[in-house]
Parts: sequence; C-alpha cells; structure tokens
Amino acid sequence: MVKGDTAFMGARRNPRARYLYAMLCLLLLAYLSSQSLHPSPKNAAELRNRCSALKQAPGPSPHFHRRKQSDRFQPGTRPTLIKNGKIWTGLRNGTDVLEGDILLDNGLIMGVGKFGTFSSVGDRLDIIDAEGRWVSPSLVDIHSHLGDASSPALDGAQDDNSIKGTILPWMRSLDGLNTHDDSYRLSISGGVSTSLVLPGSADAIGGQAFAIKLRKTSERSPSSMLLEPPYQINASESLNHSLPQRWRHMKHACGENPSDVYSDTRMDTIWAFRQAYNKASQIKKQQDEFCSKVEAGDFKGLRDTEFPEDLQWEALVDVLRGKVKVNVHCYEAVDLDGLVRLSNEFKFSIAAFHHAHETYLVPELLKRAYGKPPAVALFSTNARYKREAYRGSEFAPKILAEHGFTVLMKSDHPVLDSRHLLYEAQVAHFYGLPENLALRAVTSNSAEIMGMGHRIGYIRKGWDADLVIWDSHPLALGATPIEVFIDGIAQLKSPFKLEKPSAFQKPPRVPNFDKEAQLTLQYDGLPPLNPIKGKKYVVFTNVTEVFVRESGTVKATFSSTSAAGGVAVVRNGRLDCIGEQLACLTEDYLETKGKPHFVDLKGGSIEPALTSYGAPLGLEHINQEPSTLDGTAFELLSGVFPKILGDIILSRAVDGLLFETRDALYAYKSGVTTGISSLSHHGFFFGLGTAFSTGASHKLEKGAVVKDVTALHTAIGFGDQQSVSTQIAVLRRLLLTPPEGTAGVWFQRVAEGSLPLVVETHSADIIATLLNLKAEVERAKATKIRLTISGANEAHLLAEHLGKAGVGVLLFSHPFPTSWDGRRVAPGPPLSPSAMQELLAHKVTVGLKISEIWQARNLPFEVGWASLDMNSTLSKEEALALGSVNVERLLGLEIEPEDADLVARELTGTSPLEGKVVGILSPRRETVELFE
Ligand SMILES: *[C@@H]1O[C@H](CO)[C@@H](O)[C@H](O)[C@H]1NC(C)=O
Ligand SMILES: *[C@@H]1O[C@H](CO)[C@@H](O)[C@H](O)[C@H]1NC(C)=O
Ligand SMILES: *[C@@H]1O[C@H](CO)[C@@H](O)[C@H](O)[C@H]1NC(C)=O
Ligand SMILES: *[C@@H]1O[C@H](CO)[C@@H](O)[C@H](O)[C@H]1NC(C)=O
Ligand SMILES: *[C@@H]1O[C@H](CO)[C@@H](O)[C@H](O)[C@H]1NC(C)=O
Repeated sequence: MVKGDTAFMGARRNPRARYLYAMLCLLLLAYLSSQSLHPSPKNAAELRNRCSALKQAPGPSPHFHRRKQSDRFQPGTRPTLIKNGKIWTGLRNGTDVLEGDILLDNGLIMGVGKFGTFSSVGDRLDIIDAEGRWVSPSLVDIHSHLGDASSPALDGAQDDNSIKGTILPWMRSLDGLNTHDDSYRLSISGGVSTSLVLPGSADAIGGQAFAIKLRKTSERSPSSMLLEPPYQINASESLNHSLPQRWRHMKHACGENPSDVYSDTRMDTIWAFRQAYNKASQIKKQQDEFCSKVEAGDFKGLRDTEFPEDLQWEALVDVLRGKVKVNVHCYEAVDLDGLVRLSNEFKFSIAAFHHAHETYLVPELLKRAYGKPPAVALFSTNARYKREAYRGSEFAPKILAEHGFTVLMKSDHPVLDSRHLLYEAQVAHFYGLPENLALRAVTSNSAEIMGMGHRIGYIRKGWDADLVIWDSHPLALGATPIEVFIDGIAQLKSPFKLEKPSAFQKPPRVPNFDKEAQLTLQYDGLPPLNPIKGKKYVVFTNVTEVFVRESGTVKATFSSTSAAGGVAVVRNGRLDCIGEQLACLTEDYLETKGKPHFVDLKGGSIEPALTSYGAPLGLEHINQEPSTLDGTAFELLSGVFPKILGDIILSRAVDGLLFETRDALYAYKSGVTTGISSLSHHGFFFGLGTAFSTGASHKLEKGAVVKDVTALHTAIGFGDQQSVSTQIAVLRRLLLTPPEGTAGVWFQRVAEGSLPLVVETHSADIIATLLNLKAEVERAKATKIRLTISGANEAHLLAEHLGKAGVGVLLFSHPFPTSWDGRRVAPGPPLSPSAMQELLAHKVTVGLKISEIWQARNLPFEVGWASLDMNSTLSKEEALALGSVNVERLLGLEIEPEDADLVARELTGTSPLEGKVVGILSPRRETVELFE
C-alpha cells in the first residue's frame, strides 16, 4: 500500500512518467472492458466440470467390469479354485443354479464354469473341493450398527446415535466405527461379508451411512473397511469432479424413536424434515442458478460469487440430486404417509423403508413415493415390541413380494445378531416368501438397493470374490458356512463342520400359508389367533411319529412303517389309540365311539408341546408401552419399602399375569403351550416365577395357571447400583438366615432344596461364586439346593464343575456377547463346538431360553437348530427335551405326563421349518384345539 502510493505521487510530477501512466490507465480500461464483454474466470473449466458433475448419476464407470484387480485386493492373497459347487448365482431373479467351479484371484471372481483339472499348478493355486455343496454370494446386510453399537456394549462405545438435534445430515457413521467389535468375526461366521452401517434412529435425520466389508484389513483402520466410499469422506471442497460418482447413503427415521428422544410429536418430526429439506432445496436452487450461468458462459455477476454450498447441508442437497440412497426407519401407515408426501414435496426417492411393519397393509401408498417404489427391509418375526410394531406380520415379506416390492431381510445388528441374517430369510421363506426371493433378500437385492449390485451380491465373473460354501441348502434350518471368502480371502481357517442329514441339501418344503396371510389382511394386521375349540373326538391320519413325555423325559412311542402312515385317536384331549390304521380304526371301535373328526397330518407327527422361558411372556402386551404390562420388579437394594411391609416382599409373577397377549397366542399356535415367567427387572431382585397356559383366555379358566409358584428367581450382575459382592452377601444372608414373615418361608424352601433357585447371570466368575455359595449353604444346613443358572453365556467354561454340582443351565440357542460379563461365549459351529455340546458332555441338564417375548413362537425352530448344532449326537427325543421337560425341571414345574399338552404337526419334510402346527391336544382341558 505504502509503496504504491509513493509511485503514484512520482508519476504526477514527471511528464514522461505521466505519459506512461496515461497509457497504463488506457490499457487497464481496455482490459476491464474486454473483461466485461467476455467474462471468464481462470477456474471456468473447473466450474463447468463441477456443474456438469451435479447432473451426473452415481454408479460405476461403464468400464468397471474391465477391472483386472479389486481396489480391495490384498497383495499376497493366493488365487483359489472352488471345485464342484452347486452355485446359486443370484442371477435370473434368483433362479439360476450352476454346477461347476469358481476361480478367485485378485480379489475378484475370475470365472464361473467348468475348469477341468488344475493339478499341475497345485502349488500356486489353492483348491477347495466343495463336494457338490451349495455355494452362494456372501450375505449383504442393509441395516446394521456393527462397529457403532459394538459388542460387548460398554459405556465408552455407544456411537450410533447423536442427540444433538433431530436433523443431523452431516453426521457420519464412519466416525464411530470401532474396529474391535466382537461381532465382525461372529457375523462373518454366519456368511455375512458386507453391512451398511446406519446411524441409529434417535433422529429424524441421523446422518450418513457407510458400507463396510467385515474382514480384518492389513491397515486395521475403519477407512480401510469401507466398500466403495464416496469421495466426500476426504474433502467436500476439492473433489475431482471428473471421477465417476459413488453412491452415498443416509439414514432417516420417523415415528416413535425421534419423537421420544426429543419429546416431540409426529407433527414436530415431519416439520423438522420439511424445514431441513427446504433449506437444502434453497441451496440447490442457488447452485442451479449459479450453474446455469456457468453453462451459458455468463460469468458476469459470478465473479465475486463462490459456488453456493454449505458443509452442513451438502449431503442433503445430494439427496435432492438423487445421489444418495435414503434408508428410512418407518413403521406405521401414519409415518409412511408422511414420508411419501415428503418425498413428493421435495422430489427425492427413498431406497428402502426399514422395519416397516405396516408396509404390507398400505402397498398403494408406497407405490406413490417419488421416483420408484421403495424396497422394504424387514424382520421375519421380531414384532409387537412397541405400538408401531404391533401389527407386524410374518406374512409381510410374502404379501409385499406379491405386490412386486423388493423385499429385504435385515438384522439391525445388534438388535438381531447379524450372524443369523440368513435365518431371517429362512423364516420369511417358511411363511411364504418364494425361495428365489428369500435368497435374494439377503444377497443380490440388498446389494442392488445399496447401489453395490455391480460388484457384490452375485456369483459372476468380474464381481468381488465374496462367497460362502454352505453345509446345506442355505434356506434349510441351521445352514452353516464351511468357508466364507471376502475379497478372495478365506475367513474360516479350520471350521468345525457338522454332519447333516442329506434331506438338508434340498430346499425346504414349506407349508402353505395363503389362508393365514389373507386373514391377516382382512383383520388389518390383527387376525384372531385363537384356535377353533372343542373337538372331543379327533382321528389324526397319516401320522409318521408320536413322541410323549415319560417320567421327566421324552420318549418315542410310535413310528409308522406303512405308506399310509399311522393313526392317532384322541378323545377328550387324550391319546386313546396309536398305531397303524387297521389296529386303531376297527369297525367295532368306530361304532362304539361315535363319529370322529378326521385330520390328515400328511406324514407329520405328534410331539410334546414346548415350554417357553426367559422373557416376560404373559406379563406384557407391548414391551415399550408401560400401560400394557405388569411392570418392573421392585429393586431390592435401591428401592425403599414402606416400613409397614417389613424388610422383604416377594412379588409373584402369577399375580401379574395377563392373558391373550398376542405373543402368548402366537406361541400357542406354534406349539409352545406353556410359559414360565419370572418378573421383569432391571437389576438385583427377588421374585416368584409362575407357569401358565399360553392359549388360555383368562386366569380363572380351567388350566390357565399351570402352577402358581414354580421357583425363586433372582439376577446377579455387574454394573448394578450395588456391587456383585453385596448382591452375593444378601443372597447368602437370606439363605443361611431366612427372614421372618412370608418371604422367609420361600427362602427357607430354597435352602431346604424344595424350591429351585434360578439365578440369571452370564459371568463364569459369578457362576463359580454361586457354586461355592451353594456348597456353603448345603454344608451349613445339610441340604441339597436346587440351583439353576439362566443366561449362562460363560457356563461352558465351568461345564465340569456344573456337572459335578448338579447345577443345570438355561441357555440361548445362539449366545451373543451382549455384555462384558457374558463375552466369553462358545460361538458354536463353524467357530467352535456349541456350548451345549460342552455342557452335555459333562451331564449338565440344559434347557433353551429366549430373551424377548416375540421369540416364544420360534422355540420349535430353535430346538431344531440347537440340535443340528449338536452334530447329530442328539436324538429327536433329547432335542424335544431341550424345549420341554428340561426347561420345566430346571424351573420347578412338574407336569404329569398324562396331563401334558401334545402338538399335532403337519410335516412336509424333516425340519421344523417344514412343519405347521394344526392342533393342540389338551388333556387338562379335555379337548383338541384345531387351527384351520
Ligand atoms: C421373480 O420371482 C418372483 C417369485 O418367484 C416372481 O413372482 C416374479 O415375477 C419374478 N420376476 C421376474 C422379473 O421374473
Ligand atoms: C481418501 O484419502 C486417502 C488418503 O489420501 C486415500 O487413500 C483414499 O483412497 C481416499 N478415499 C476416497 C474415497 O477418496
Ligand atoms: C480426475 O480424474 C480423472 C479421471 O480419472 C483423471 O484423468 C484426472 O487426472 C484427475 N484429476 C486430478 C486433479 O486428480
Ligand atoms: C461332527 O462329526 C463329524 C463326524 O463324526 C466330525 O468329523 C466333526 O468334526 C464333528 N463336528 C463338530 C463340530 O463336532
Ligand atoms: C402320507 O404322507 C406322506 C408324506 O407327506 C405322503 O407321501 C403320502 O402320500 C401320504 N399318504 C397318504 C395315504 O396320504
């Protein structure tokens, strides 16, 4: 400045300088005027690029499939030839199956076909003989919180929900991605290779989602796990606009979650969306105006204006430009309607509605969404946990597919363990989703809806080398990988393989549920679940097998050898005659007993009904609605009792029972006719469990309460207000010196060994302490305590000690390291033998338990699955015991065999996923109840 002023002064004094000065001014003027005639800033080319990039659709370059190596290739990975596979490719709408070989190299599938013998290159090529087994693309989970909500859950790592405001399009799930989540390894062992990690649903706009591959990378960083990440993760300003653009992903949520977190109403949430989209639209409009000038070469007026943008809103602007896959957590018609209107108001399309429990009721509404109809990402049977989910139906996948929607099954990991994503597809198939679509729902279709169908989700030359060799047909119950490849790298080094019956190599022959699905629509999602009651005299024909209870075990009593199958004659709910046709249905017999109602079991069986434990079944209608449930048990050490009640009050679950809850009725319909429930609780508590009939209408009905008090229940765990040592001290005191009053009587009975003590805990350390405490009390009182451990993720570590102490355990069929104290799970095949195998080897009595009430209906599947994991070492009788007599014995329920319910199951194949319950034989109620 100072220098320039001096030069100017000098020019005015000197005539020569004055002349030069005038010339300079002229030149400057000429320059300036030329500029105003043809304005063109230096960065014109860049601006043109940038503006034209705005219109470019994301997706791979047209030359993508000419790639010779994957961008995710890990140098040093050896090529692999998989021979003799039965290859489900995902192509032709999921109907394409080839028998042949697959060559993997450079992280890619180099070829699919017949490659003859490769013996000469044996040392440069790994060869795996699939021996005719099924091979599929590895699984793609479109809804996961892997890494962001990691396991075991610790306070220091809850990174999936920001609550800094309900509109957060600038948040990125990548920024919370923990590389040490125990789930990566577990989910890979279930065949999952790719997950879309979505922010949580606490916000209307929770932020940007990222696709990851689950395998360990050599770099060990979150960024190196990303699959085709958008360039925006590095810089929003200095993008190379000539590169083909990559899909971005965004999470939205409506309904209860964002409303609850911000104490908002649905009206507030939709307004928040509209405000945000309005803001993004304004920026987009400014950009479009700017760019129309750039495109017209009209740089006048743009010289001082920068390209309009805003780091906070750029992702939402990209939604409006069709560059983002929008995944919306949304359940009910009211919310779906709001989002469909929003999509039309602001003209953006929705990739998928997630959870979406009412979508099957409003297909026409979905079809009105802007652009193309959204896909629907569902759970198979996880429903009714809140109002939004109350009308969820197992038939939703089938119904939506019939309307032409793309149906996806998802885990919402860790809500469901994504290791068992395939199970979701199996169950959806059981309830009517066609085989080809059920498989595509967790592979090709989820890849397509994620915008990744050009490289994952298919077995196809040029696609990523991500695939699974299964030990059975992938839709057969319990299908387990024997190898999983991600980017051409084998993930299971020495898998535990299971022996499976050959029937499991074929797709399951599922029942027909057309009538039930129709009824579900007719009743707006709440079809009547009660059976048709009152058949006194029923003859089941074409019965293949009959199993009954006998002194605390399950026994096979009949197995038909004839083509026609046997018959089972049931009078007043009791088996009157079982045998081949001629043996039971003599003319004399039919004459004396009157006219029966015939039911064709089509080769099916009659088996003991199952007993559910582990969730507050019968104590709640809707888990997240306090006005629909019994409530939480009194917390012994943190609550304050009114003095008048003395020290301890023991609540009895029987007093809180609610009948005709939909989950209990669903359980009944699936052959789970007894529920044993303790009280809902948050921490250390004591309460008395109860057993009830899941099919009863009210408590006063005959047989509704099977046993009013079954056992004394408690829960001991870390992270409670009082230390574990305090909880144990209280338990010791109550057992050694039972208090006065009614509560004391129950503790006395536990100490004497006449009432079981059921302790919920996972930790091997706590279990060990309990074994010591048991011995201590037994020594002091010269008794034998009946102790049962429930949950027991780490019980397998003490199998020998549990066996010696005669302590039984109630386990989940598939344990998950939800919390630190239960992290040392025996994950089961293909990673290890199952925990149950370990425990049974030491003669520990084992029963199966569930954790949420909606799972009660799935117990027959879990029993079948857990026994498959036992590697054919368990008889069918022993398997049935896992879900019936064992559970009852461990929980203090003795049912007289002649009073026990039986289930008539129509069976089309050999696995529980091929059978349908058609009747319940109830001796106590003296009737056969039929579902028709
Ligand atoms: C894909 O398969 C489903 C179910 O099997 C069928 O309904 C649908 O029409 C098929 N779609 C195409 C494009 O062939
Ligand atoms: C981001 O930057 C890193 C380091 O420069 C680079 O390795 C990576 O490929 C970039 N990622 C994207 C998606 O552009
Ligand atoms: C941008 O990408 C194009 C296409 O791949 C490439 O030719 C060009 O060199 C890149 N420009 C910069 C500045 O990296
Ligand atoms: C299952 O049994 C087979 C044959 O008996 C054996 O080879 C395999 O290792 C067993 N697997 C497990 C998980 O125990
Ligand atoms: C009995 O059921 C089996 C299995 O479904 C079937 O193959 C057979 O034809 C049935 N027999 C009669 C007489 O219906």
